[in-house]
Amino acid sequence: MPIVLGIHCGHNAAAAVYVEGKLQAAISEERLSRVKNHLGYPYRAVTECLRMAGAEARHVTHAALSEAVFPWRFFEKPSPAIAVREAWHSFRRDVRGRVRSALGKPPYPKERLVGLFDYERLLYRAGREAGYPRYFLADRFKDVFGFRNARVKFYPHHLTHAYSAYAYSGRPDCLVVTIDGGGFGICHSVNIPREKSLKVLRQTSEQSSPGFFYQDITVLLGFKPLQHEGKITGLAAYGKPEILSDAFRRCLRLTEDGWSFESDFSGSADRQRYLREAIAGRSREDVSAAAQRVLEDAVVPHVRQMVRAQNLRTVALAGGVFANVKLNQHICELPEVDEIFVTPPMGDEGLAWGAALAMMSDGAEGLRPADPTRLTDVYLGPRYPESVCEEALRAARVPYEKLSDEKLFETVATALADG
Ligand SMILES: [Fe+2]
Repeated sequence: MPIVLGIHCGHNAAAAVYVEGKLQAAISEERLSRVKNHLGYPYRAVTECLRMAGAEARHVTHAALSEAVFPWRFFEKPSPAIAVREAWHSFRRDVRGRVRSALGKPPYPKERLVGLFDYERLLYRAGREAGYPRYFLADRFKDVFGFRNARVKFYPHHLTHAYSAYAYSGRPDCLVVTIDGGGFGICHSVNIPREKSLKVLRQTSEQSSPGFFYQDITVLLGFKPLQHEGKITGLAAYGKPEILSDAFRRCLRLTEDGWSFESDFSGSADRQRYLREAIAGRSREDVSAAAQRVLEDAVVPHVRQMVRAQNLRTVALAGGVFANVKLNQHICELPEVDEIFVTPPMGDEGLAWGAALAMMSDGAEGLRPADPTRLTDVYLGPRYPESVCEEALRAARVPYEKLSDEKLFETVATALADG
């Protein structure tokens, strides 16, 4: 019985489990660690997903990993000096883990992570020509986590984003567009279905990233990146876009052929310096309005052109940029588009099930591609029966009262209204 475990290690770490092609559980690590946008390996989510699927690590037949960051200890080091330094870090981490577990805390080590894209560059600098899969210590990874019967493979960041939307769009014939800040040096991809798999038509490098542009604006206005981008979308409604939109187009615009994005800046430091000067003395509202306008002016015509070129009327979208509801609304309103589907985990948390789906479509032994179905709900994590809630309340000595649903909704709404 094939059990496919999808793992996304990185920002918004997550895990998902498929048993015989059926999604059993999908959980963001932040829901269990209570750390927003949890960065790291999804220890808790993997354990909980397997528990919910009634499986143990040794039952996992396939482990699909997304290309983002990964614990450094699972890679061969490019030089002896780096290997010695890493061995020392690894020793300290293990000691800390043992002490914590002896103290009764969960022994989740604070992993030293390596960006796979950076690791590849490091190999190149160290005179090693091949990519990281050759230097990935798959056997050590399987030993440490007990996946001893699993086939392990990494899948490209944007391809996993694409599968995370395609598989649940409910439409076998849709255009799949992914846009985010960046993953493995890429910020955008256009994909079309080919026999239950996806064919990549175009990708754009991170240098012209719509997501990083929007993130820069978020930071420059004093908000938290990867978290408060929605505030820019909200503020945009109150500003005048025309004051700064021409200046911002130097950071993001559609290429002439309409297939990709471009920017005058090759590095993020240059772009941020330029933006800082451009927005000096301007209101948050006007800056936000221009950023939103420039994003829409790049992405919406791009999707329109792709839909026309491929003659597909349904669009599946993934990547953090599609958390932007205003942008999605404009895409949805295009006359060429009948329907859009934005995958609920549009950020990197979706890479866990995206990687599992990519592996199922990859012709791996014993697996077959999932048929695109319509996602009916997103209650894919642990459930807490009343008895468990009561036990937790008693343990925490919190006074509580049991109410009927009707009374409960009224009480909560009143409490919220009272501030
Ligand atoms: Fe991403």
